[in-house]
Amino acid sequence: MGADSEHWSDYYTVTVERPAWQTVRFAIDRFRDEDATPAGPRSSADEGREPRFAVDLGCGAGRDARALLRAGWRVLAVDREEAARVAIEAAIEPGLRARLQFHIEDLATVAIPRCDLVNASLCLPFLAPDAFVPTWRRIVAALSPGTRFAAMLFGDHDESATDLTMTCLPPDRIRDDLAGFEIEYWSVDEDDRPTALGDPHHFHLVEFVARRIG
Ligand SMILES: C[S@@+](CC[C@H](N)C(=O)[O-])C[C@H]1O[C@@H](n2cnc3c(N)ncnc32)[C@H](O)[C@@H]1O
Repeated sequence: MGADSEHWSDYYTVTVERPAWQTVRFAIDRFRDEDATPAGPRSSADEGREPRFAVDLGCGAGRDARALLRAGWRVLAVDREEAARVAIEAAIEPGLRARLQFHIEDLATVAIPRCDLVNASLCLPFLAPDAFVPTWRRIVAALSPGTRFAAMLFGDHDESATDLTMTCLPPDRIRDDLAGFEIEYWSVDEDDRPTALGDPHHFHLVEFVARRIG
């Protein structure tokens, strides 16, 4: 399933108006509930507080980034494709633009700043194992206790698991790699259905939202 720029450009056309994924919506809701709690880590009485800050890795056309921006977040969106920047900038509501930064970078090398949320929907599996592992470590290093990691990964039964340029891990291994996190949302699903571009595919999707605890 490794893909070129033309593939991604078509993908953005098809997905740009699709809603944000369940994982990022879950994370937004958790932070909103915490921030509404007077005794929470960022009291709602603190009028001058900075917006929450998310890094959206492999943002594509920005379905998740725009949901974060609409919820009042500041977002650093990262993708290696220039077409992703064009798609996100064309689709974003003008009033949200000031809180969005876009960096064209490779996930294999991007520096991930400290943030409240790292969101990675359907992008990390496109890294080969020798890049996936260090990128995972940089994600974890960017997260301090109370922050969250939301992701959609491919499991080892996914059709893409035979592609050695990709990383598709057994769900148990992903759970093990989340030591130091409380897993708040976890879903494993396996089925045959078309990709966003209509190609048949055997999907094994592992989705989670995890809160850093140590
Ligand atoms: C399946 S799309 C998902 C896009 C978006 N997160 C969504 O859920 O709609 C995968 C995205 O990851 C990006 N991507 C894949 N490998 C990448 C890499 N090594 N560095 C940066 N971006 C990458 C692609 O350009 C593409 O935009």
